[in-house]
Amino acid sequence: MLRDDELTTANILIEDSSIQKISKLPPSNRPDTKIDASRLIAIPGLIDVHVHLRDMELAHKETFETGTQAAAAGGFTTVLDMPNTKPPTINRDRLAEKISKAKGRIYSNVGFQAALVEDPAELRAMSKEGAIAFKLYLNKALETFDAADDNSLRKALDAARDARAMVTVHAEDGVAIHAIQEKSRAEGRGSVRDFLEAHKPEFEVSAVRRILELSKNHALRVHICHISTPEGVRLVRKNGIATCEATAHHLLANDRIFLKQGTRAICVPPIRREAYRRKLWSMFAKGWVDILASDHAPHTLEEKTKTNAWEAAPGLPGLETTLPVMHTQVARNAISLRRLVDATATLPAKIFGLHRKGRLAVGFDADIVLLDPKAKIKIEPSNFFSMAKYSPFAGMRCVGRAAYTIVNGSIVAEGGRIIGPAAGSIVRRTD
Ligand code: NCD
Ligand code: ZN
Repeated sequence: MLRDDELTTANILIEDSSIQKISKLPPSNRPDTKIDASRLIAIPGLIDVHVHLRDMELAHKETFETGTQAAAAGGFTTVLDMPNTKPPTINRDRLAEKISKAKGRIYSNVGFQAALVEDPAELRAMSKEGAIAFKLYLNKALETFDAADDNSLRKALDAARDARAMVTVHAEDGVAIHAIQEKSRAEGRGSVRDFLEAHKPEFEVSAVRRILELSKNHALRVHICHISTPEGVRLVRKNGIATCEATAHHLLANDRIFLKQGTRAICVPPIRREAYRRKLWSMFAKGWVDILASDHAPHTLEEKTKTNAWEAAPGLPGLETTLPVMHTQVARNAISLRRLVDATATLPAKIFGLHRKGRLAVGFDADIVLLDPKAKIKIEPSNFFSMAKYSPFAGMRCVGRAAYTIVNGSIVAEGGRIIGPAAGSIVRRTD
């Protein structure tokens, strides 16, 4: 197992869905199930703070079953679902409804992010219901209030501070992007280049700057989602309190992907040029980007494959590729296993306040991945559990994958197959 920075040999005893004992010597009593993991590395189950599980009226894109099976197969034992569903998670009743629909159907643990709203009473009610964080879409993707207006946004941030809630942000300037998009459309343009031209890196930087500025006097914790620009990361670090996440596709792919995959590779913020990718990677490796998240955003192939880029649904699945593609970088010594585990387990648990998760220690939940660091696999979207059968990493040869994924003490996935029950629980904010 990975203990601090070292690999050590240990026996991990699981009882009643939590870790009971970690010891050099085998436990004295005979366990019901025993896994010989001598060629594997035990790491904490991965936590993905940015996942779109869809379901409900978007069940043609993904369901609680398929999304969490994809999570378990990919080594994620806990995922946080996003509120831009149909219907959107914008009040306590919607959140309660989502929780009750997910129960009994999930193969990984699931927590919910709700939408940031202006009404403090509603925020508190959603918090009480268990919402882990509140998402703010500065790109106009979910308009619960006029976030383009500083005064409205201040009001919502005040409400979040009063509810002691964390705000997660899609930081792209939606007004500026929309203006370019409308002009391009009116002129009959709609290439991938036109799309990239509208979703400029500068519009991410200005949105990051704006939200950090507005949240300054709010003693509020702001987390920037799927950051894609080195300047954005620098602003987050300068702020001192804020945190950020990056995706594997922003860290490992560049805009050459569009030559191969066209509109299928579109997501927001978009995959950037190589110079951005390289700097973002080095910042991630140093730990300046706190968290690795997938932004698993499934759509149907039909919704992705369009001649006009403005018609294509932005979003890429990532639950089944993130661990293999990132572990390949560990195998190449581009980052340490410790940094990967920090970015996918330790820090997500710490930053999002998920108690008893993110570490292999006595008393913690038995959410464990037995990593096979030598496994050679090829990314094959047609084999995904996710309903989204496409990937920017399609065809890539990787080293390393989850040999076993254990959720609340149950073996849910083995060797990329789902073998266990829907053992996931709902994760709620507890403080
Ligand atoms: C996400 C989606 O499809 O819900 N798409 C994306 O490209 N990232 C929305 C989002 O996370 O902004
Ligand atoms: Zn987003």
